[in-house]
Amino acid sequence: MSTADLARIPEVSPMATLQDYAKARRESWIGHSMRGFEVLTHDQGWEIMSSKEFDIGGGFGVVLDAVGLTSGRYREEWNKQIVCTEGELRTRMRQPYMRLLKPQQVAKLQGSVREMIHGILDEIKDPTDVDFMAEIAWRLPTQLYCDLISAPREMAPWIGRVTEAINPPLLMMDRDRLGESEAAYWEGLDFIEKHIDEKRKHLGDDFTSELIRCELEGLISHDEVKTVAMSLLIASMDNTLHQLGLTFGTLLEDRSRWEQTLARPTAAPQAAEETYRLCPRFGVIARHASVDIPVNGFTIPAGNWVWISTRSGGRDETKFEDPDTFKLGRPASRALMFGSNHYSCLGATLARLEITETIKIIGERFPNIHLKGDWAKREGPLVTEVEHLRVSLV
Ligand code: HEM
Repeated sequence: MSTADLARIPEVSPMATLQDYAKARRESWIGHSMRGFEVLTHDQGWEIMSSKEFDIGGGFGVVLDAVGLTSGRYREEWNKQIVCTEGELRTRMRQPYMRLLKPQQVAKLQGSVREMIHGILDEIKDPTDVDFMAEIAWRLPTQLYCDLISAPREMAPWIGRVTEAINPPLLMMDRDRLGESEAAYWEGLDFIEKHIDEKRKHLGDDFTSELIRCELEGLISHDEVKTVAMSLLIASMDNTLHQLGLTFGTLLEDRSRWEQTLARPTAAPQAAEETYRLCPRFGVIARHASVDIPVNGFTIPAGNWVWISTRSGGRDETKFEDPDTFKLGRPASRALMFGSNHYSCLGATLARLEITETIKIIGERFPNIHLKGDWAKREGPLVTEVEHLRVSLV
């Protein structure tokens, strides 16, 4: 297909339903929307997000522009973040994460993550009526964040409030909450600055101390210590906790899914991957073409955005047999939801550990967990959040 065939590709809304996607996929692997191109199939999505020919064209800046955060001090802060940078600067800022959250390092956290999950479950007051988001999902990544930076776990509720107010309004493109996002950012930055100053006095075995060591080794600058520390505050919690909710909502809404998971005690990682395929936190991964780039017989013209739809790619019938069915034992495939290549999610291994261990432990301790009423999620053009998820653990 050439660029001249543009008129023949289907129109696909950024808010398309699964039925809309299925219909569009019957016509083409790529669609067109008001924001650019929408990639509908798994393998082409993976190819584009992994290709070095595409860039991120200012990255998260495209979202900030769309919510009206186009200038000023807050925008300037965001412009410094990894998600808005290209080239050598982003490579440097990714380094500390790659050191600190590489699979071997994350594996060492398994024991404390398990202990944390047990503690969270022990503290549940009424196991017959649990607000899964407030009593479980919010607590795990926020407590883990405290451990990662060696802050007292009692700070977790405060950290949770700050992180919840920074990124989610932007990801949900909620203009009304822009002021709240900015206020929380400065509150978080103030905390991070003091925290770094404290850590400089006695380095320890934590993320912040490692960042300072990276500065001492000349890997990142003084200012970048702050920026990378802020990125952990911004990125490490809200996506994980919403995916935890999406994962449990997906597993429990059809009892046979949970039963399949329980039947194979080693299946937790696979069960989790199936939920990322069927119900991903990130609905799209963005890439940008700075020059004309041919893909699969079609040329993406320079200057265009390409939105790889994980919601559609996960249901691609040319990739997954019976794609709407939750099934363990599928041939291994790569989850689209964490992106790929030199822009990929730097916390994917950690997020996977948190979610998989929660499935395992709840499976061991509370195999009869079930939904209490319907659960509700809200899909935006970029991400999905869980609005409510009530369960009984017994
Ligand atoms: C289920 C939970 C999570 C999801 C769905 C998620 C998803 C994503 C996605 C889609 C990207 C962009 C990838 C791309 O464009 O190729 C990303 C980037 C990033 N993620 Fe995650 N993430 C999660 C958890 C985490 C955690 C736990 C951390 C930190 C501990 C983290 C840190 C980051 C950072 C720093 C980036 C920016 C990478 C860059 O621009 O180079 N994420 N994440």
